[in-house]
Amino acid sequence: MEDEKNVKAYILLGAPGSGKGTIAERIRDAAGLRHLATGDLLRTAMKNGEPLGREAESYMKRGVLVPDDLIMKLVETCLEKGGDTASYLFDGFPRTLAQADMLDSALEKRGTQISRVFLLTVPKDVILDRLTGRRTCRKCGAVYHIRNIPPKKEGVCDVCGGELYQRADDREDTILNRLAVYDKETAPLISRYEKKGLLARVRSDRKADVVAGEILGMIRGSSSGAGER
Ligand code: AP5
Repeated sequence: MEDEKNVKAYILLGAPGSGKGTIAERIRDAAGLRHLATGDLLRTAMKNGEPLGREAESYMKRGVLVPDDLIMKLVETCLEKGGDTASYLFDGFPRTLAQADMLDSALEKRGTQISRVFLLTVPKDVILDRLTGRRTCRKCGAVYHIRNIPPKKEGVCDVCGGELYQRADDREDTILNRLAVYDKETAPLISRYEKKGLLARVRSDRKADVVAGEILGMIRGSSSGAGER
């Protein structure tokens, strides 16, 4: 069925700071995928003062997960908008086994299934440096790092000229909490997708363009699997 419609669904899985958003920005257009990042959607809802944003804010500030039912409503709304012909790049979703079950059902309803899951792997010491140095554009959401991937002009987005800010959950104590939550709630998804033969491990402690190129190669089917570990 997936092939009939040629609808694809890819997942970027990985700990906070593993580079999901950075890689998604680099591959979504080239791969013709709708980028669905639940963290970005929640931050937009917060910024716009929507009820969902108000509800999510207290969870996000503490670095714990927003309840599954709220997340699934958000995702379902996006999937509805895309109709049944859009292909997706999920970023930061699913994050629990329950969300993974719900995603399977939502895709099945649309006559498709998960095409592949890319697990971005990075050593924990790199993660802390990445997250404390991250800056995000208030306007378009583009992601930078003060040393690794700096903007051309300090504090200003290269893409849209918007102001760069530091996310409230990128404080060291909240980061450590997010990492613990990842290990407990999200890491079990790795073996789930591995057992289904869907998982590709991609080392993300390399240049972002190299990581993105490797994943794009796998999406286009032009890679022999180099880089999978
Ligand atoms: P979310 O926004 O999804 O955050 P996250 O998963 O913690 O991931 P991050 O955005 O922190 O990191 P990333 O992997 O995207 O890395 P990035 O590319 O930015 O979620 C935030 C919160 O929302 C959660 O804590 C939770 O409360 C809630 N939430 C969201 N989704 C949910 C869900 N499904 N269920 C329940 N709750 C949910 O890169 C990080 C930094 O590293 C940047 O500075 C970047 O420039 C730099 N960098 C990236 N790649 C490289 C590279 N290759 N080399 C050098 N530097 C790099």
